[in-house]
Amino acid sequence: MNASPTDPLVLFMPSGKRGRFPVGTPVLDAARQLGVYIESVCGGRATCGRCQIEVQEGNFAKHKIVSSNDHISPRGAKEERYDRVRGLPESRRLSCSALILGDLVVDVPQDTVVNAQVVRKAASDRVIERNAAIQMCYVEVDEPDMHKPLGDLDRLKAMLEKDWGWKDLRVAPHLIPQVQKILRKENWGVTAAIHKDMEFSRATVVALYPGLKNEAYGIACDIGSTTIAMHLVSLLSGRVVASSGTSNPQIRFGEDLMSRVSYVMMNPDGREAMTKAVREAVNGLIGKVCEEGGVDRHDIFDAVFVCNPIMHHLFLGIDPTELGQAPFALAVSGAVQGWTNDIEIDVNRGARFYMLPCIAGHVGADAAGATLSEGPYRQDSMMLLVDVGTNAEIVLGNRHRVVAASSPTGPAFEGAEISSGQRAAPGAIERIRIDPETLEPKYRVIGTDKWSDEEGFEEESWKTGITGICGSAIIEVVAEMYLSGIISEDGVIDGSLAARSPRIIQNGRTWSYLLREGREGEPRITVTQNDIRAIQLAKAALYAGVKLLMEKQSVETVDTIRFAGAFGSFIDPKYAMVLGLIPDCELAEVKAVGNAAGTGALMALLNRNHRREIEREVARIEKIETALEPHFQQLFIDAMALPNKVDPFPRLAEQVKLPPRKVLTDAEAGDGAPRRRSREERAARRARE
Ligand code: FES
Repeated sequence: MNASPTDPLVLFMPSGKRGRFPVGTPVLDAARQLGVYIESVCGGRATCGRCQIEVQEGNFAKHKIVSSNDHISPRGAKEERYDRVRGLPESRRLSCSALILGDLVVDVPQDTVVNAQVVRKAASDRVIERNAAIQMCYVEVDEPDMHKPLGDLDRLKAMLEKDWGWKDLRVAPHLIPQVQKILRKENWGVTAAIHKDMEFSRATVVALYPGLKNEAYGIACDIGSTTIAMHLVSLLSGRVVASSGTSNPQIRFGEDLMSRVSYVMMNPDGREAMTKAVREAVNGLIGKVCEEGGVDRHDIFDAVFVCNPIMHHLFLGIDPTELGQAPFALAVSGAVQGWTNDIEIDVNRGARFYMLPCIAGHVGADAAGATLSEGPYRQDSMMLLVDVGTNAEIVLGNRHRVVAASSPTGPAFEGAEISSGQRAAPGAIERIRIDPETLEPKYRVIGTDKWSDEEGFEEESWKTGITGICGSAIIEVVAEMYLSGIISEDGVIDGSLAARSPRIIQNGRTWSYLLREGREGEPRITVTQNDIRAIQLAKAALYAGVKLLMEKQSVETVDTIRFAGAFGSFIDPKYAMVLGLIPDCELAEVKAVGNAAGTGALMALLNRNHRREIEREVARIEKIETALEPHFQQLFIDAMALPNKVDPFPRLAEQVKLPPRKVLTDAEAGDGAPRRRSREERAARRARE
């Protein structure tokens, strides 16, 4: 940039990039020179309106800039014309037309606020800087000339190089037969959708439109074992146009991942059937988000996917059998790119896809997405990131070192294996409190605002009925039963309390807690000894995995905890800690981050630098295979207790009164008494005592 120290100073917000530019420089050129991202489709012809900016007026003493609308050229004929045709708010300018006349603070409006929506709760908004792999470029191609026999396609390439700097362009083969027709339709004006991902990869024209094509979309999709979630995003503005979800139809082949691997092993056409099912579901969901957003699915040019390793393989058409047994070999662990057409995704014929890398055989591209979103590797402090599903994926680290593992928690947290468990849906109990004196519960039900002890609850709850307990409430009810003394630290229901409360009921040879009797046609809702065991096993698996990673990192505590996934959004951190699901931590530092994997996919969709970032970081992450760690067993046994047999929870104890240790006699516990302890457990006890 040939600027002198007396030239106007221009500061771009929110990036904070600044520089001096000669009077008369278009604001868009200044932005380009500083590397500030401003979209442009029309190439500065003032027809696409993508390059809008706003001048901030005032004295910005900190930056030593007095900025005013007088320091930018007045609206010219091109901007006036754009305003007449498309409308331009008074405060906005087209940066391709507006010229720098004096010092300026320029705001680049961020339409990129992303609302990472999960089923019931919006996660934090975030701004994603854009640098998509797809760019829309309008050019006016020279008409054919008998004296210069260069082909139509070649003149198109020449113009894309001249106006936009694209060198050595490739053209998707399916476009070649159509080029002549498209060029002539709008008098040689065409918009090319150009895909370029890696710095060293060749750019490719993937779609071609007559005239100005001023929109391009992408999808960011998280394919989970039970649900598939998708964002439809404008690649030009960064705006999330629609978000939706659907259930994964593969459930009919098996509830959990391992049963789907078994299905592949047992049935010759199993892999094909499951691949077809998940691709059909993704196509259906694309239809749904396009309808919601009023978008033609053929305007989708890029797609980013994240999923666990088994879904990753099944979606890409790879046999997942190797993932069902040690050493859990992935067919491919690095990022995968290709044409959506090759994976039967029905969007634009030239659209591309990108699948984030997998971290390990049990820690997939979804964990990589969550890692990109939350960025433990960007932190000074020790961050624990957990995504609780049927398989918990755990990442722990800071900018120096990151370790990752998965733990087989099973489906208990999702309500399966629990006698009154159900998925979060209207009619499910979602919050529970138990009075430690009377042992009486009060609860809230999805679809009803009132607590059960409030007037009008019974009438209001008829709308949905009261049908079961969802995952977040299962955590709460077990924790509350512990805090109120109904269960011991070993998780055994104290049958002697039956003398004090009719809610402690005998259930064969064990005891149960009666949460709700149930009205006519509604189920009786109880928490059984088996339910508590299932939760203990699940939470012990998760905690032992976390603890193993803490040992690898040589830390006694973690500084922050991020709960990813829909389930994490509804857990009260306090109860998760009382249960010993997560290690002791300041409660204020425990946050739910919603569908972080989906947010990571969105980041990789909107900015290809994030693809390089996560590829780099995944290569650095150390993978720990919990099944191979002999110590895991002991950590698991210790974690069966509430909150834990050996680990103290001092920060939790400051905020919650934990009950004194209670050891039940066999008579009080019935058959709920802990089984004969294993040699390891006895050894662990001796060591502690
Ligand atoms: Fe298209 Fe400015 S670049 S209007």
